[in-house]
Amino acid sequence: MDVFMKCGEYTTADEVREAGLYPYFKPLTNNEGTEAVIGDHHLIMIGSNNYLGLTVHPKVRQAAMEAIERFGTSCTGSRFLNGTLELHLELERRLAEFMGREATLVFSTGYQVNLGVIGAIVGRGDYVITDKEDHASIIDGCRLSYGTMKRYPHNDLEGLDRVLASLPEEAGKLVVVDGLFSMGGDIAPLPDLIPICRKYEARLMVDDAHSVGVLGGGRGTVAEFGITEGVDLVMGTFSKSFASLGGFIAGDAGVIDYIQHHARSLIFSASIPPANAAAAMAALEIMIAEPERIQRLIEIGAYMRKEYRQLGFNIGETQSPIIPIIIGDDMTTLRVWKALFDAGVYTNPVISPGVPAGLQLLRTSYMATHTDEQLDRVLDTFAKVGQALGVI
Ligand SMILES: Cc1ncc(COP(=O)(O)O)c(C=O)c1O
Repeated sequence: MDVFMKCGEYTTADEVREAGLYPYFKPLTNNEGTEAVIGDHHLIMIGSNNYLGLTVHPKVRQAAMEAIERFGTSCTGSRFLNGTLELHLELERRLAEFMGREATLVFSTGYQVNLGVIGAIVGRGDYVITDKEDHASIIDGCRLSYGTMKRYPHNDLEGLDRVLASLPEEAGKLVVVDGLFSMGGDIAPLPDLIPICRKYEARLMVDDAHSVGVLGGGRGTVAEFGITEGVDLVMGTFSKSFASLGGFIAGDAGVIDYIQHHARSLIFSASIPPANAAAAMAALEIMIAEPERIQRLIEIGAYMRKEYRQLGFNIGETQSPIIPIIIGDDMTTLRVWKALFDAGVYTNPVISPGVPAGLQLLRTSYMATHTDEQLDRVLDTFAKVGQALGVI
């Protein structure tokens, strides 16, 4: 049988294209942060993870340009060999200080952090336990590891306890959760997870991709809860609040040193380019120097949640500036997406199998740099489209 046969048989994308509802891979011709242009559509952007609006900040741009001038455009090699610059080490030192951890290690993407860390830590005979709504990169990290993966229902503490209780006492165990869930915008109950992990001697890793720069004064969910012990590893990414590309893992120095020598996605891939490392460092400096940005983002999140609820939209359990608009079926979700797009609002439709059937949604997320006027235009558009299509 031809291994390409499945490609010819795949018709879903064409069907959606023919219906005029295809929402993916649309090229932006201009991107000012809160506003973007796609074709002849001028859009308010509420589909980006640029939470602090720093991708267009003059200091971040300047830092990236200076790094290119000094180091060139690429490291053309792995961190392990020729691809480590003093810039990477400086970034790791500053991140460790910011996150209140002994050490950090910078990877080329957040996706690679999860692949590399889980793959390095979870060995043969070990178990890795995940929340059912964990990000795909965590699932892929589990698949790449030599250990056995177990899952528990979303944020279900009894479910986690049951899974851990069923595992051999002597086996190594790593629990991995999103700190702030990327689709639902809700937060993992870390203070309640920690004692359960302790009871079974499981280590806990938190993926704070969406909460570094957003919650806990920018330091993520661990700081949000005021936790000082019990979270062993924290991952973060530069592709969201840090306005760049790359990611990091933070933890005890001995564990980070082990990961550095065993994470395949670090060792067998080229290091984060100088411009991206410098942009992330500049973003970190701004996060520390201008806490009012984070404050504004939190206020925007609270305002939008209140307004969407008042309009009658189902926004689930979100507690953050990630606000899902739950529509409930694939075609209606695409129709609402298209109507919003045509009316000048960019959102991200998430249909099955990306979310379970019945939970198809438009993922909306906000930036500290959105103006009140932009936000009210978004709400006004949602109200009109929601009524016209019978969603509210
Ligand atoms: C929860 C979570 N973890 C990890 C990642 C991967 O991050 P990156 O974009 O840096 O590869 C993402 C990105 O979508 C994410 O949402």
